Amino acid sequence: MSSNRVTKAVIPAAGLGTRFLPATKATPKEMLPVVDRPAIQYVVEEAVDAGLDDVLIITGRNKSSLEDHFDRNPMLERTLFTKNDHDRLASVMAAAELAKVHYVRQGEPRGLGHAVLCADMHVGEEPFAVLLGDDLIDTGNYVLEQMLAVREEFGGSVLCLMEVHESQIHLYGCAAVTPVIGSEAVKVKDLVEKPDTESAPSNLAVIGRYVLDPAVFDVLRNTPPGRGDEIQLTDALKTLAQMPASEGGGVHGVIFKGRRYDTGDKQSYLQATVRLASARGDLGPDFRAWLREFVVSAEFRDD
Ligand code: G1P
Repeated sequence: MSSNRVTKAVIPAAGLGTRFLPATKATPKEMLPVVDRPAIQYVVEEAVDAGLDDVLIITGRNKSSLEDHFDRNPMLERTLFTKNDHDRLASVMAAAELAKVHYVRQGEPRGLGHAVLCADMHVGEEPFAVLLGDDLIDTGNYVLEQMLAVREEFGGSVLCLMEVHESQIHLYGCAAVTPVIGSEAVKVKDLVEKPDTESAPSNLAVIGRYVLDPAVFDVLRNTPPGRGDEIQLTDALKTLAQMPASEGGGVHGVIFKGRRYDTGDKQSYLQATVRLASARGDLGPDFRAWLREFVVSAEFRDD
């Protein structure tokens, strides 16, 4: 069992963002703003807050604005400095100084499992975290920290699970679990990617946070294309769940009870924007006052 400390986060961001076309025709979906920061910045901030400041983003074609965002922009910085606009200058520089961000390109879209496999050279023989760029988790939940603690205790890999309505399980990986005596974590026995409601083993959905043992790379190399003819991370995790701990196997789950948004989905994206703007110290008071007026206005009513 590999037991070194987790320091690296991998963020797959090579997807085409078709659910958000035409906004994502020329702009990566990860760069769509949630209030005033691109969605992916929240995810990088979450990784850094959990102590993972070595971040590898898996990109693809048309994703160069991601690299620009996490890089310095001397001309913009000079302009803001000259105008004495120190707050904006600080926000611009913060994105560049947040983490050590690295990039690798996934040449062809062969699935999430394949995207994670693109990280093998960078990650090497260490356990690492994977954070999906579409999944935004409200700050103050510390679920990644909890998952890292479970990895410390049990080794192997750790998933983030969330109870969903049975009508929604076909949108997620789904886990069959058993309790672990004396722990809040659960043991993952089986996994299936996007099952039909009838065949789903539970209503526990896999959401986009993972702590993975490096054994996942060898497993992924030998995982044939699954659902959608893509190499599925869920299929590799199913294999790991059945492998002995001595070979890096074993999968546990943490059941997440906080708030999570899928910023690739229009409804969820709008909810994230409203909630996060409402909670902001600077924008919140005025925005909430406006919202209160709006929801009781004639314009808002269905009839
Ligand atoms: C991916 C995974 C799926 C997981 C989901 C969480 O699916 O394949 O197992 O439940 O992320 O967001 P995607 O949403 O990329 O289709």
